[in-house]
Amino acid sequence: MTGRLQDKVALIVGSARGIGKGIALRFAEEGARLVLADNEAEAGQATADELGAAFIRTDISLMADAEAAVALALKSHGRLDIVVQNAGIYPWQLIENTSPDDWDRVMAVNLRGTFNATLAALAPMKAQHYGRMLYTSSITGPRVSSPGHGHYSASKAGINGFIRSAALEFSGYGITVNGVEPGNILTEAIELHRGAAYIKNMEDSIPLGRLGSPRDVANAFLFLASDDASYITGTTIIVDGGQLLPEGKDFRLLPP
Ligand SMILES: NC(=O)c1ccc[n+]([C@@H]2O[C@H](COP(=O)([O-])OP(=O)(O)OC[C@H]3O[C@@H](n4cnc5c(N)ncnc54)[C@H](O)[C@@H]3O)[C@@H](O)[C@H]2O)c1
Repeated sequence: MTGRLQDKVALIVGSARGIGKGIALRFAEEGARLVLADNEAEAGQATADELGAAFIRTDISLMADAEAAVALALKSHGRLDIVVQNAGIYPWQLIENTSPDDWDRVMAVNLRGTFNATLAALAPMKAQHYGRMLYTSSITGPRVSSPGHGHYSASKAGINGFIRSAALEFSGYGITVNGVEPGNILTEAIELHRGAAYIKNMEDSIPLGRLGSPRDVANAFLFLASDDASYITGTTIIVDGGQLLPEGKDFRLLPP
């Protein structure tokens, strides 16, 4: 099936590469008109050129940048149907080595960025009486965690709380608010920052036997952005290859 987002206008924040680029590609395949936003100008513009989308350099931690991105969508297409706030940073840092500034930066991008994108998109979506607000959360924080992810876990658990509250507040305006919790997704950033040993370890602990792809995550976003999800609000979809399921290490054991 194609055309599931035919002529819908979607702003995707954090879409230069990785999962966000996967979402942009998938939405484009389904007929969406895209505005891409990212704080990396060169890579963001390259992705936008690939897809025939508009691009705006955006640091989503700044409200003025979030407003400018929404303004570009309205100027280019006259409306805004879908906003995806996917921009996120995940520096690996033990809590004892995290400075207040380190903490604040993770919160500023992951959590305040979520608030900024939401508030900027709210007025036009309210006026249209239609909107899909979507966020990239994570299993890390809301469900599980690992050493080195104190600030990140707090920020992603915060996104889930925010989703619930926003879903309630906007329910009378035709706006749904949902998120996706990816497990371990193979992106350039994961390969670069986590390395082969990490990836092998994760493969061994994922029942479906592989890390996810940006497209796996994008398919969940597509569903939540489409009319098929019109009665779903205030929740998240876990896309983790079954990683959260095992009670113990021997989950691959089959009956004799
Ligand atoms: N890769 C995974 O395994 C995984 C798992 C769970 C959740 N996530 C989440 O998915 C999202 C994307 O992760 P990814 O792995 O594709 O990472 P990535 O680093 O490849 O992509 C993140 C994108 O966000 C952009 N960005 C960073 N800071 C920004 C800012 N201040 N303003 C605007 N754009 C900014 C980057 O330039 C980049 O294009 C993040 O929110 C991350 O926390 C990733």
